Amino acid sequence: MTSGAAAQVAEAVRRATRLTVLTGAGVSAASGIPTFRGAGGLWKKVRAETLASAEGFENDPKLVWEWYDWRRGMIRDAQPNRAHTVLARWTQERPGTTVITQNVDGLHERAGTNPITRLHGSIWHVRCWTGCVAGREDWRDDSVPLLTLPPRCPHCGGLVRPGVVWFGESLDPEILQRATDAAARCDVFLAIGTSAVVYPAAGLVPHARRSGATIIEINPEATDASGIAEFVIRQPADEALAAIDALL
Ligand code: OAD
Repeated sequence: MTSGAAAQVAEAVRRATRLTVLTGAGVSAASGIPTFRGAGGLWKKVRAETLASAEGFENDPKLVWEWYDWRRGMIRDAQPNRAHTVLARWTQERPGTTVITQNVDGLHERAGTNPITRLHGSIWHVRCWTGCVAGREDWRDDSVPLLTLPPRCPHCGGLVRPGVVWFGESLDPEILQRATDAAARCDVFLAIGTSAVVYPAAGLVPHARRSGATIIEINPEATDASGIAEFVIRQPADEALAAIDALL
């Protein structure tokens, strides 16, 4: 990033009355959590539908849980990086700042981000797969490693599934509405570390643009959102956000 670009972005952030931030897997890359697409991405090694869909779970719940258990262990041992801590501080110190994340790792929350809208659920939440009355709502489960794979519902003894949104599933309409409103009402919209290919999350970027927001992208690679961004910072999120923060 040139110092000029950092200064322009810092100025846009400073002047923003409402700042909405959309994050993706790239913000957790510096914490050692692999992204889904691109070099080294999780979906390079395995089809997403095998591990992250209802059909995949129905086919082989143990395999799916082994994969989530592995990710839970990796995430538990990881620490929030500067991208998480800078964004957390902005939400605390800059009224009107909100973070919308596609990540399920909980690192934004661990850094103290508030408010946060989690579009794709949480890897630390589970719910009954069979939908028994007592296990229908998500509950938090921090066990790593899980004692039995696949884990069982404490209410009905059926299977338990991860409390994340899988391919082919709809987002919670209230959560999506909150995110859509935050995109429409902001004057600056930051898209950080997302390939912007998974909808409806990716649609928030053009929605913010149409609603008049200045779009800023932070991502080492070009994405589907780059074309509508006014400022593009081709740097890792932790470095870029630390540099912008230092100029505020
Ligand atoms: P992707 O893996 O699709 O994209 C990650 C993006 O982060 C890429 O554009 C990378 O260039 C960028 N990136 C890599 N390292 C970075 C760094 N250090 N700093 C900033 N950016 C970096 O991840 P998402 O866009 O989050 O869905 O993927 C969206 C959804 O697809 C995920 O929420 C997940 C996945 O399948 C579900 O689990 C439902």
